[in-house]
Amino acid sequence: QRHLLGIDPLRPDEIATILDLADRYVTLNRRAEKHAEVLAGRTQINMFFENSTRTQASFELAGKRLGADVMSMAMQASSIKKGETLIDTALTLNAMHPDLLVVRHPQSGAVDLLAQKVNCAVLNAGDGRHEHPTQALLDALTIRRAKGRLHRLTVAICGDIAHSRVARSNILLLHKMENRIRLVGPPTLMPAGIESFGVEVTHDMAEGLKDADVVMMLRLQKERMDGGFIPSEREYYHRYGLDAEKLDIAKPDAIVMHPGPMNRGVEIDGTIADDINRSVIQEQVEMGVAVRMAALDLLARNLRASPKEVMV
Ligand code: CP
Repeated sequence: QRHLLGIDPLRPDEIATILDLADRYVTLNRRAEKHAEVLAGRTQINMFFENSTRTQASFELAGKRLGADVMSMAMQASSIKKGETLIDTALTLNAMHPDLLVVRHPQSGAVDLLAQKVNCAVLNAGDGRHEHPTQALLDALTIRRAKGRLHRLTVAICGDIAHSRVARSNILLLHKMENRIRLVGPPTLMPAGIESFGVEVTHDMAEGLKDADVVMMLRLQKERMDGGFIPSEREYYHRYGLDAEKLDIAKPDAIVMHPGPMNRGVEIDGTIADDINRSVIQEQVEMGVAVRMAALDLLARNLRASPKEVMV
């Protein structure tokens, strides 16, 4: 693959290759070993048109640990504010010969469009409601390490499915790896026709969590609700918030996941999120750096020789 735009185009063996390499980077990161030779001489530009803590920080750390020259653009201070379009911005940066472009954008499809206009590798750091491929990959690595496998598991994905690119990328990945996927949430936050993605749908937490190996909670994405239905947080927590009583319905060794940022007391009880015997939320963050290192490493291997190297 030239770019990492989504989980959709990836084959199961390609997913396994990324996860295997990421696993190696987990070990190296824990030993505080850098591998500055991997991306030495490469330039990585991060363009985040939407807020981010985990994804932006981990892509920056990942590039730096592999020796890339990393520039994180402050998009709020860029000429986008003067009316420059996404494509003109991309073409401008492309003329500076980056090797890797990491992009987050609020519009679904914007990152794919941009990838068609530049001649470097593009990594999708989340586009609208469409895809967040590195999140699904880091979730997969977290599950594989906790459960010892990434197939034939029952995974309950709970909450605001309709507005979630994390849900979409996870559904695609977990389905490719032959897991049983249950989507749980209110009818108003469930996309129409989602069953065609090979998932089961329920609006009842007790039904959705029964015998689950993995319980993945999602944030209410109010910023994407376009003034439509926004549930009362109190009522939502009562019916769909993960607390000890609801978690008891899942398997005794079920793990609890959340991509972050979390709204404690809305989709998850704080004590569950902090319970190191059940919650793998901090491991997800750690896997994020390793997965992004693996993605940058593998895409850089595919890059054609840069003009500088051709001249030499
Ligand atoms: N999970 C996730 O994408 O978090 P950020 O928005 O903080 O990057």
